[in-house]
Amino acid sequence: MAEGKFLRLDKAISQVTDLSRAEVKRAAKQQRITVNGVTVTDPASKILDTDELCLDGDLLTEAGPRYFMLNKPLGYVCATKDGEHPTVLDLLDEPNKHKLHIAGRLDIDTTGLVLITDDGQWSHRITSPRHHCAKTYYAHLADPIEDNAIDKFAKGIWLNNEKKRTKPAELEILYRNEVRITISEGRYHQVKRMFGALGNRVLELHRERIGNIILDEELSEGEYRLLTFEEIASVTEPEFVEPENSAGDTD
Ligand code: URA
Repeated sequence: MAEGKFLRLDKAISQVTDLSRAEVKRAAKQQRITVNGVTVTDPASKILDTDELCLDGDLLTEAGPRYFMLNKPLGYVCATKDGEHPTVLDLLDEPNKHKLHIAGRLDIDTTGLVLITDDGQWSHRITSPRHHCAKTYYAHLADPIEDNAIDKFAKGIWLNNEKKRTKPAELEILYRNEVRITISEGRYHQVKRMFGALGNRVLELHRERIGNIILDEELSEGEYRLLTFEEIASVTEPEFVEPENSAGDTD
């Protein structure tokens, strides 16, 4: 809450809990809410954002910015709502999920690291094409990879219906048809299209890393955890940010 602002009690409490305005009204009538230690039963009471609110004796404070990493399983979409498929937010057992967004989406059939936050400036540094945040993927390919793919990706390649080559990408060949690729853009289906441009096909794609944040091996598919302070702080403003009009075509 911004300082020095008056708010309705029911609105203030529903903003910092999972309760609807109607549920807050009921809780107030049941004398479960206190403001600065005094029971308040009128849900329309005006309170100050500096007031101390308690529900059932528990102090309610506005959640500060939240940062999570999730190990995305197959079949989940990176969207806040979807009529057809489960979303990655369905995997989070957190209050106020409507305030969260995904910092860099994955396709429904891609697995691995997804970052979720309610800090828009922080996620912008990951998703904005001007910031060149590196993302690393493991890919299992249908056909053996040619050795010259390393050079082709390093030079940048043309994708169908794109006006610019891809930015240099780093390719590490792990086995005949298993690679690790690092890109610093987020064009639509970029990794799959890059291998498609070489006449190959991605069978499995798994994101291992975003910037300096590495998917925690302890997280099984579908599990998540809070980011550490160091992980959050590692997403910093880079020294060089590309000017607005030279940005690539990203999703
Ligand atoms: N590139 C893709 O093709 N798919 C993803 O999910 C991420 C990057």
